[in-house]
Amino acid sequence: MSLAAVLLRYALVSLVSSLLLVAAMPSFDGVTSWSSIGNLVPGLTHLEGLGPSTTQGTANHAPFYLSIGATRGNPGNVTMYRNKSPPLFYIHQNQLWHYHNDSTILPVNVHNTTRSAQLPLQMIADPALGGVPGGRWRWQATMLFYENGAQNNQGLFYSCADVNGLNGMFLFLQCSAPPPGCTPFTVHSFNSNRMV
Ligand SMILES: *[C@@H]1O[C@H](CO)[C@@H](O)[C@H](O)[C@H]1NC(C)=O
Ligand SMILES: *[C@@H]1O[C@H](CO)[C@@H](O)[C@H](O)[C@H]1NC(C)=O
Ligand SMILES: *[C@@H]1O[C@H](CO)[C@@H](O)[C@H](O)[C@H]1NC(C)=O
Repeated sequence: MSLAAVLLRYALVSLVSSLLLVAAMPSFDGVTSWSSIGNLVPGLTHLEGLGPSTTQGTANHAPFYLSIGATRGNPGNVTMYRNKSPPLFYIHQNQLWHYHNDSTILPVNVHNTTRSAQLPLQMIADPALGGVPGGRWRWQATMLFYENGAQNNQGLFYSCADVNGLNGMFLFLQCSAPPPGCTPFTVHSFNSNRMV
């Protein structure tokens, strides 16, 4: 398939979510090959988790990546682990999306699963937009931020594993102590051509 056909296919399939992304794509004139889809669609990026339990700079460094706790391409709870084949994400119009393939692009929603003002919100890759309304995802340098109204998560995410019923990736909208048993992470894109 030619590059033009690939781009057209991407544009058609992701029309609903990505009209402006496509419109804002830089010109590919003169460029003839790409090593990966991450270069083909600007902004696609793995999201690496950094935190006290990560091992940057060590010989056996195995990075943590934002992942989805489901068979590839299916909706599921967002997770963080040493994924050797991490999924791709991008932000478009303040929404975080998981890109699986041309026909499967899932929004990452923020859900009030705990139904509590004190407990954190959960990140879930859903079939359609939903969850807590009014949220906005953005980059601050390499760091992923979530904000809602005047509040934001300070770039902090918590990976929780079945502690007090918390299972997955969580965030707070107000400054809060980490939930017991949860591991803090900041989440980063080190892809220099990601889009805002
Ligand atoms: C995309 O992935 C889904 C889920 O794995 C699959 O059902 C579908 O056939 C794939 N579509 C394309 C265009 O590869
Ligand atoms: C996904 O999150 C929900 C809501 O927090 C939880 O009830 C469920 O057990 C989680 N699923 C998996 C597979 O961890
Ligand atoms: C989550 O739900 C609880 C109970 O309905 C509510 O008090 C709280 O404000 C909600 N949090 C958000 C961020 O919507």
